[in-house]
Parts: sequence; structure tokens; C-alpha cells
Amino acid sequence: ALVLHVTGARPNFPKAAPVLEGLTAYDVEQLLVHTGQHYDDKMSDIFFRQLGIPKPDVNLGVGSGAHGAQTAKVMEALEQLFTDRRPDLVVVYGDVNSTVAAALVASKMGITFAHVEAGLRSFDMTMPEEINRLVTDRLSDLLLTTSVDAIAHLGNEGTDPDKIHFVGNPMIDTLLKNKDRFDSAAAREEVGLEGDYIVATLHRPGNVDDPDDVAELVAAMHAVADQAQVVIPLHPRGRARLEEAGFLDHPKMRVIDPLGYLEFMGLVRGASAVVTDSGGVQEETTILGVPCLTLRPNTERPVTITHGTNQLVTRESLPERVREVLATGPLTEWDTPPLWDGHAGERIARILARSVGVARRGEG
Ligand code: UD1
Ligand code: UDP
Repeated sequence: ALVLHVTGARPNFPKAAPVLEGLTAYDVEQLLVHTGQHYDDKMSDIFFRQLGIPKPDVNLGVGSGAHGAQTAKVMEALEQLFTDRRPDLVVVYGDVNSTVAAALVASKMGITFAHVEAGLRSFDMTMPEEINRLVTDRLSDLLLTTSVDAIAHLGNEGTDPDKIHFVGNPMIDTLLKNKDRFDSAAAREEVGLEGDYIVATLHRPGNVDDPDDVAELVAAMHAVADQAQVVIPLHPRGRARLEEAGFLDHPKMRVIDPLGYLEFMGLVRGASAVVTDSGGVQEETTILGVPCLTLRPNTERPVTITHGTNQLVTRESLPERVREVLATGPLTEWDTPPLWDGHAGERIARILARSVGVARRGEG
């Protein structure tokens, strides 16, 4: 049987790695497709090297573009590829444009497809990812969920319960597998940081696209930098706008290029706090026990608040929340969401293998 994985953007890679590995135990052929949605070394290839992900068999090279154009390019290229290769199963990850594009093509061609990280909902239709999640889940044959709330959302939407499987979080598999390689001291030295620091990541359109929002964001982040050194590996989106708005004009604000996974997680692990609008980072800080302040009005990952270290903040409340977190100091106790245990990839692989009717290697 042929299992075809579609990846394309930075958050896909740490999610796909444990699934690809888990499936090697089964009698399947795997084809790894990279759509080319992300293409800078630090947004893409470095993850393959650091996480030991096999080189993609195919890169569709779609690159950047407006939502319609980018999604359409992925669809057109995948339609051809699926026609040529006739996969028995397609696997899609997360909520990016490459995910929904693959979902649309697979479902129209009658190819069974599985969605890893199904059922997350922010209920915020101004987020492109929320649209991608809704469409992908509606069409999906196998919905693999990372959290209990996701099962409830899918149930409320009328999804057949037989299609839903609670498998845990493959991104956390990657974190736990590589944790010993997260070297805070080395990462700090590489970036040139001394003493305590806060790590920030910002890339959501809701924060970095509108110039008025950006002006407020810069003021809020400078009020954070008044309290502690801030290092921000800045996503290419919005970089120019933030720089124009004077983001760098603060002696304690260090803006750097995106970091490799190991360097980034090294920095996060040693940080006093994290300020972010990333989905994945809310989850990673939950496991590492680093206080996370999420600069968003909502989150599709509420377990990071109920079980983890996360809280939602606004531009107005951010400086005060940072003050509180720094005053409290390092956390000594926090909870872990169910099944965020390092074995999601194995569970997913078992379900995928069953769906294509193959046994473990050597047992067929
Ligand atoms: C995408 C995802 C978002 C995810 C983020 C993770 C969608 C709709 N959004 O957002 O959910 O959180 O990835 O990082 O799929 N660019 C580069 N180099 C690259 C890639 C992008 O310079 O390698 C620049 C381009 O100017 C591009 C812009 O970043 O236009 C945005 O890239 P795009 O993939 O469209 O969306 P992201 O904001 O990265
Ligand atoms: N990440 C990284 N280097 C960075 C920023 C992020 O390696 O400079 C990793 C981190 O593990 C994060 C993942 O990339 O969880 C995907 O994050 P991103 O914020 O791009 O996407 P999102 O999860 O918001 O969709």
C-alpha cells in the first residue's frame, strides 16, 4: 500500500516526523511530499536535517502567494501527482494552506485521507487556519485528535464518531524525543544573550499585518523589553512592517532570523517566559513548563491553558502579565495533557496501517 504524506510549512515538519517513523514498522510504501509553501532553509530544510526526516520524494515548489493562488497551485500540482501515483491513503497535518489544498484534492478524487491534529477550533473565522481546519475536518475520513476538546467539537459538528481517534500529540513526540539535545547555554551563547531573557515569536496576520496593530504591538513589546531582555526569532511575515514601525529601536530587543528547531527549543527551555502567537509554541511551553503568554484573543489549544502554562493576553495587558510572571519565577509544578506522552506517532501509525489493511513488517 502507498501512503502519501503532504507537508509544506514549518509547523508540519515536527508533526509529520513521528508519523513517518511510526509507519516504518508497517508493510507500507511511504511517499513524502513537500509543497514548497515554506522554502527558506530556516523555515524548512533545517527541520529535515535536525529531526532526521527523510528528504521529500517530491517538492511541488509552489512558494508564496495570496491564499487563493497558493492553495490553487498546491491543488493543481497534487491532482497531477495523485493521478500519477494513486496513493491508497493521503495524510495531511495541521491547518495550513497546503493542508486544506490536499484535503480538497484527495476527497474529490475519492482517495481516503487522514487529518493529523483534527478538531481544534478557535471559533474565529478571521483566522485563515480556522477555515482550513473546518474544511479539512469536514472532508476527512480519519480524524486524529490531540486533545479531548477536539473530539467534542467534531461530535458537535456531526462527525461520525467511528472516524475520530484520540491519539495524542505528535509534535510532543518530537519534543520529548529531542529534549536532551535542547542546549539552553549553547543557544544563549550562539545568540549572544547574557542573563535572564524572554523569547518571543510573532507572525499571525491578526498581529503583524495591519500597521495600526503593529504600532500598538511595538509599544507593548517595548514595555516588555523594559523589564527583561527579549529575543525574537522573527518569522519572515511582517518582518519589514515591524522593522518600519521601530521594533528594533530598543536596547533590549534582539531581533534575529528564524532559528532551527533545536536552537529554538534550547532558547525556549531556558527562558523566563515566552510571548507568542504561535500554535505549536503554546504546546511546547506546556510540556517544558515555561510560562507562555499568548498574544491572541482566543486559542484553538485550550488544554495549554487548563493543563499547561499558557494564558491569553492583549497588547494592553501584556506588560503587566510579564511583570507577574517574572515576579513568580520558575514554575515547579504543572500538568500534562492526556496522551502527550511521546507515543502519538505509534498510535497514528497503527490506525493508518489498519485503514489500508497492512500488518507490521514481518507479521504479514
Ligand atoms: C503559514 C500558515 C500559518 C502558520 C505559519 C507557520 C497558512 C494560511 N498559514 O503562515 O498557519 O502558523 O505558516 O510558520 O498556511 N516567507 C518567506 N520564506 C518562507 C516562507 C514564507 O520569506 O520560507 C514569507 C513570504 O513573504 C510569504 C509570507 O512569508 O508571503 C507568508 O508565508 P505563508 O506561507 O503564506 O504564510 P505564513 O504567514 O508563513
Ligand atoms: N520554531 C522553530 N524556530 C523558530 C520558531 C519556531 O523551530 O524560530 C518551531 C517551533 O517548534 C514551533 C514550530 O516551529 O512549534 C512551528 O511554529 P510556527 O509558529 O511557525 O507555526 P504555528 O504552530 O503557529 O502554526
